Amino acid sequence: MWTPSNKPPEQLASWQRLAALAEQRAGQPIERESARFETYSARIGPVFIDYSKQRIDAQVIAALIDLAEESGLDDAVQALFDGEHVNTTEDRPALHTALRAPDGEGPKAVAGLVEAERSRFLTFAEDVRSGHWRGYTDKAIRTVVHIGIGGSHLGPELVCQALRPNSDPEIRFLTNIDGDAATTALAGLDPATTLFIVASKSFTTLETRTNAATARSWFVERTCEPAAIARHFVAVTANDKAAQAFGMPPTNRFAMWDWVGGRYSLWSAVGLPIAISLGRSGFDDLLAGAYLADRHFRTTTPARNLPVLLALLQVWNSNFLGAATHALLAYDRRLRLLPDYLQQLEMESNGKSTRHDGTRVAMHTAPVVWGGEETNGQHAFHQLLHQGTRAFSADLIATISPGHGLQEHHRWLLANCFAQGQALLADHTAGVEAQGSHVRGQHPVTTILLDTLTPRALGTLLALFEHRAFCAGVIWGTNPFDQPGVELGKVLAGPIQDELGDAQPTGSAVDSPTSELLAHAKKIASAR
Ligand code: F6P
Repeated sequence: MWTPSNKPPEQLASWQRLAALAEQRAGQPIERESARFETYSARIGPVFIDYSKQRIDAQVIAALIDLAEESGLDDAVQALFDGEHVNTTEDRPALHTALRAPDGEGPKAVAGLVEAERSRFLTFAEDVRSGHWRGYTDKAIRTVVHIGIGGSHLGPELVCQALRPNSDPEIRFLTNIDGDAATTALAGLDPATTLFIVASKSFTTLETRTNAATARSWFVERTCEPAAIARHFVAVTANDKAAQAFGMPPTNRFAMWDWVGGRYSLWSAVGLPIAISLGRSGFDDLLAGAYLADRHFRTTTPARNLPVLLALLQVWNSNFLGAATHALLAYDRRLRLLPDYLQQLEMESNGKSTRHDGTRVAMHTAPVVWGGEETNGQHAFHQLLHQGTRAFSADLIATISPGHGLQEHHRWLLANCFAQGQALLADHTAGVEAQGSHVRGQHPVTTILLDTLTPRALGTLLALFEHRAFCAGVIWGTNPFDQPGVELGKVLAGPIQDELGDAQPTGSAVDSPTSELLAHAKKIASAR
């Protein structure tokens, strides 16, 4: 049985060696010989990764590989795939990899469940696409509204936006509690041709519960047919009882399981909008891409294992080179949600200060992840990237063949991506770099290139990121599969919302600065 290493990383010999290497190399320029490209780049299927612009050399890489070994990464990877309880605080496995294993190849304990549910939800998706599934007036579905938040939203919207922005049926996403979001999502819809997917692992999430109830009222008010909910609402959840109580019959309830974390769940029925948008073959390709990354991750030696190397670089940059933030710069507009997706994946997984055994970590864990759509960012925040004072690392992501016919636009886009990589690396003392004599440069950059943006390539990329987060967690000794830190805000919001209504102030639940703010908001609202 797998148990996490209880030796804090800072006590490992490799950690101390890395600290010494970082000190020795401080102030030295990042090496730039052309041979580095060959040494520090690799490919998984349609995804190519160039990490030659990182502040690394043979000694640093060797020490990082030792760190992976001393942290017990090999055993942890095995435990992840074998379904051991790697989610220690919640005492369960994290089996998202089982969701993309081909039929007959998943772990025995869950393969049957996964395959049966996959077949059910893909059949349903095909029925919606083909018009076989009909609304209560016998019309085909024209619009799908996916209601969910966090992990029950970001992956599905990212993939739909990237691969089929003009989907038929149209796919809309309703996520947050702001009534403006609900109003916008419902605007102009015909209830007779609208399907709502309520995706929530817990089925208790405030935003999703409230939006689902609003959608149901909207539907019933317009149709005067409460029974028609059965043709227009489906659920994806691990809380089957709550979906039943909402009014969904068994045919409309798709399972997810407590052994799949929300932010790792797009491969399950949570990906229903993806399946409706792309169809069964597109969804299968997405899974096949992820499976490719899984096989690579499971079988490749650490020195050539991309998720392992990317995680080690993350640790190197944030713990030894002082990069407190990590920018994800998407040089493909279709991937503009990638920074948001990655933000949840990295920051909810590894934004932790407690190790598996409950002790406090003695170092920084996940960096702040942020980013944007390029080249827009170049005309906004890149000023700080080039001349600001803060250390950061960056991933630049681009696609070699565009999804449109405007070749000149695409050459410019790619040229800007490569140019930014060059400028971020720049040592401003010589040659062309002298033009930007106050450009700081020397920022570690990884360039990720997709051959084309296909379901397979995106599947590989997202699975790679998932595994990077897992590996970094293993090294820091944190559990990437829980998120206890988000609970406090939820608890505090309850009494405040009561007081914003008619409830008498309870006093004790709200601190005094907040209660002043509350009183101010109520006064202004009542005067209007
Ligand atoms: O509050 C955080 C969180 O639990 C995320 O981890 C999760 O992805 C999201 O909320 C949505 O949760 P659910 O799928 O249970 O509605």
